[in-house]
Amino acid sequence: MSTDTATHNTDWTQDLLAHRAATLPQAINMAGAEGVISFSYGLPDEESFPAADLSQAAAEVMSQAAPAALQYGAPGPLSAYLVDFIGRDQKRTVTPANLLVTVGSSQALGLVCQLLIDKGDYIIVEAPTFLGAVRTFLNAEAEVVETPLDDEGIVIEELDKLITDLKADGKRVKFIYTIPTFQNPTGVTLGLERRKALLAVAKKHQVMILEDDAYAGLIYEGEVPPWLWTLDEDDMVLHCGTFSKVLAAGLRLGWIGGPPAIVSRIAALKVDGGTSPFAGNIAAQYAKDGRLEKHILKLRDIYRRKRDRTLAGLERYMPDGARWNTPQGGFFIWLELPESVDTVKMLRDAIAAGVNYTPGPACFASRKGKNTIRLAFSHLTVDKIDPGLRILGEVIQRQLANGN
Ligand SMILES: Cc1ncc(COP(=O)(O)O)c(C=O)c1O
Repeated sequence: MSTDTATHNTDWTQDLLAHRAATLPQAINMAGAEGVISFSYGLPDEESFPAADLSQAAAEVMSQAAPAALQYGAPGPLSAYLVDFIGRDQKRTVTPANLLVTVGSSQALGLVCQLLIDKGDYIIVEAPTFLGAVRTFLNAEAEVVETPLDDEGIVIEELDKLITDLKADGKRVKFIYTIPTFQNPTGVTLGLERRKALLAVAKKHQVMILEDDAYAGLIYEGEVPPWLWTLDEDDMVLHCGTFSKVLAAGLRLGWIGGPPAIVSRIAALKVDGGTSPFAGNIAAQYAKDGRLEKHILKLRDIYRRKRDRTLAGLERYMPDGARWNTPQGGFFIWLELPESVDTVKMLRDAIAAGVNYTPGPACFASRKGKNTIRLAFSHLTVDKIDPGLRILGEVIQRQLANGN
């Protein structure tokens, strides 16, 4: 069978992950201190953090709910906020028993693995995908296998065949990890028909879906289909969300939703004294009365502007043969360069010239995609985008001229 799998014994994966873990704080510094324009990390826009409103919410919590916010326990009325939000946004009735608030959605991904994964179990991921998730899956000693994406998301026939082949080989496939909306790293969104087909494939093979909706709400045009979790009638979906992108990543608040029987088992594995009651109470206080929804409307304008500036710069500076998409939302644009360009090798020159990016292979469990780049437009100030892409265009032209 010709599938690309990543395991604990695969040296490159560990090297790559260790490298990225080690360079994250440094890369953030580089964006400012050394004047490097960084399209690398999908960090939220810092100027938009609602610091004054959050400090007001914190003062309100301290005067109204200090003991609960400062004691071990639940993260305040955040589940109640989510119940209400899901009812309005998805027209779906859920109860607190369907939900668990976690330390970012990252913790939710880890807890799902703790519940479902035994060493050697298979997890199917999109190619490319969010490497933080792959790292979590490898830490759980899963085998990670890729299924292809096209401009409309997961290619359903390929996924169906992959699962059929894995099962015929006697492999235990535990779940499909997907980011169906404004995917990290490609920005693509899975359409309604494919969502239904994905659910049908999951049901046919009795393989769960883990739906990661980290960029929910950050939509710049059009509409997106309902969540897989909303469309699911067979309890095949676990859904995770986060406050990191729409409020503040430093709060470290995310959540997982699913059937109560599974959510309660995940809750039993979460042994940590409760997801920060302090942060949770503040976020809930801030979110009540529609403050969060209003903030998200502002964020849409901010990120739409950055996306559009990035698209205009790509048009201006990219060479013939380069190809990119127009994401409807989220933080990322996926750039495919002529075959001869090696974006991993090119990174050193790019940083020396003053621009940073994530080479595509860092987003594939199998490390392919050497001529691809993930451009995160979220963190840069708008005025840096055009100059950054001009430098990137020059670096690429040099690579092409050198025959690399
Ligand atoms: C697709 C995806 N899922 C999950 C996360 C983790 O988010 P959190 O801050 O909620 O742990 C990220 C962060 O970049 C992400 O891109």
